[in-house]
Amino acid sequence: MLHIIQVILFILPSYFANSLPVIFGGGLPIDMNYKFIDGKRILGEGKTWQGFFTGVGIAWLIGCLYAFILPGTEIDFYQNNLDYVLLGIISGFGTMIGDSLGSFIKRRMNLARGTPSFFIDQLLFLYVSLLLIWIAGLSIINLYDIIWLTILTYLVHRGANILANKFGWKNVPW
Ligand code: CTP
Ligand code: MG
Repeated sequence: MLHIIQVILFILPSYFANSLPVIFGGGLPIDMNYKFIDGKRILGEGKTWQGFFTGVGIAWLIGCLYAFILPGTEIDFYQNNLDYVLLGIISGFGTMIGDSLGSFIKRRMNLARGTPSFFIDQLLFLYVSLLLIWIAGLSIINLYDIIWLTILTYLVHRGANILANKFGWKNVPW
């Protein structure tokens, strides 16, 4: 049970990084309107610098919050408090790089901005984030965790997008 709580806390910065840009994104596109060699946009209008750094920023903030509240508690999952801050920053970058990579792939597949794409939309950010965290030596999860996190992430993503659509933050419920 304790481990499950730790894994949820561990992945929460990625979830926030993936969801907040919908509300706070906008402005200059990351690809600055440039097109790839196939004549399509590199990433498209849906990926902005403001959105990217909203994601990195919120994950970093959550990491800082963890560094303050978790040490000394039963849930504490790092020896070094600074690791929480690193987890936040790396989760943020991993999530937003995965999200951008997804758009890059979608544009190459000739899918217009906002077209739903199974796996790319719901799970790519999770795996890129987990990969970077693992490379940084900060992973606390096992193979079994990856399986239930995959299912949980898929369901949370679907649910959150349906809600965001209801609240008018997103035009489409995916
Ligand atoms: N967003 C942003 N900057 C980012 C990521 C997201 O501004 N780096 C905002 C955009 O307004 C975007 C919305 O969040 O439209 C939803 O994100 P997402 O579903 O990832 O983008 P899509 O518009 O669906 O575009 P794509 O087809 O490229 O995934
Ligand atoms: Mg989308």
